[in-house]
Amino acid sequence: MRKMFRMMFNRGWLGGLLVAVLISAGVGRVLAADTDAEKTALAVEALGRLQGVDINANPKLKDAVMRVLEKTRGTANFVKLVQQFKLKGQSAGLLEVAAAQPAGESGVEAMRLVLAGGNAKVIEAALTGTNVVRAAKIAEALGNTAEKQAVKFLAPVIADSQRDVTLQKQAVRSLARTTDGANEVLKLAREEKLAEALKFTASTELNAVRWPEIKAEAAKVLPPLQGQNAAPLPPIGELVKKKGDVANGEKIYFRANPGCANCHVVNGRGIELGPNLSEIGTKLGKDALYEAILEPSSGVSFGFEAWSFTLKNGDEAYGLLASETADEVAVKAVGGIVTRLKKSEIESRQPSKLSIMPAGLQAAMTTQEMVDLVEYLSTLRKN
Ligand code: HEC
Repeated sequence: MRKMFRMMFNRGWLGGLLVAVLISAGVGRVLAADTDAEKTALAVEALGRLQGVDINANPKLKDAVMRVLEKTRGTANFVKLVQQFKLKGQSAGLLEVAAAQPAGESGVEAMRLVLAGGNAKVIEAALTGTNVVRAAKIAEALGNTAEKQAVKFLAPVIADSQRDVTLQKQAVRSLARTTDGANEVLKLAREEKLAEALKFTASTELNAVRWPEIKAEAAKVLPPLQGQNAAPLPPIGELVKKKGDVANGEKIYFRANPGCANCHVVNGRGIELGPNLSEIGTKLGKDALYEAILEPSSGVSFGFEAWSFTLKNGDEAYGLLASETADEVAVKAVGGIVTRLKKSEIESRQPSKLSIMPAGLQAAMTTQEMVDLVEYLSTLRKN
């Protein structure tokens, strides 16, 4: 037995800590632990039994804890150890976990620990970094803490028009998790300082909050989208959970109203103005499909930007740029009709901020019909 101990020490992986592991976890299990991951798990388990120990009074133990901590980077165990031993200066590692699991228990706990640490600079830096995907995950984790403290980090994100829109939308969703945050969004909307691109998300979120006063205010300042007969539409988060009828969805798609086939081709049927939707179920999830229908101008697909032209004779043209030569542009209008304009006849041209796909198509359908339509679209995939 003694020989075995010495052998383990000589391997030198965790030195003294192994003693604690051996005693508490049982020699057999440690010897059976071949991989580093298994050893780390056992070490964490052993350390977990040292509740209420002040490791600052015990440099050797602290040393061992820091070594195990290093091995657990990016995992739930990292958060556990930081929390248990009240380790300072671990914001970077905690943010790593928060970004990896912004909606998971350990990610959210990690974010709480960072907030409690009071190091505002690291949070601000994580939200302003060039990696906007990561920044959005941090914003999501901040929201999931449901702590008021998160508001002071998220509010500046939505007030700054230079920020990435995906990040801003996440910040709106996260702000809607607390009354302070929701009020902040409402304030911007009331002062007409909320960016157009964020209104839909803000309206969807704030009309679904559980606080009656905020809800009532939101209904006024950011009225919810209306479906058929002006019935308020459920938020996308609820719509995606509903089950639709594919066959009926196909009928809705080809119905004159909402008229999807006037602008989109599916498997050879329809007029080609917008993107071909024959494989749209592969490209977009249900949430993105709802967003494309309810908020067409939020992310206009590349190559499908609308232009308006004013001609010297006072006429106007509006549509997509189908082609352009040195002396002519071809404009494709709704209905698929292409008009050729001589450049010498054009007074001015301007790109449109809005999609040529009209907003408000949901008013031509009941909520269930729209659910059916999205169910149908999500079945359109590559064979
Ligand atoms: C007046 C023409 C028009 C009508 C009507 C229309 N769309 Fe569109 N749609 C477009 C254009 C143009 C785009 C590309 C520009 C953009 O992304 O906004 C688009 C984009 C889309 C996209 C995103 C495609 C992608 O590849 O990202 C989806 C999904 C979509 N439409 C579905 C529908 C559905 C469903 C309907 C019927 C309820 C519909 N559209 C009605 C013109 C139209």
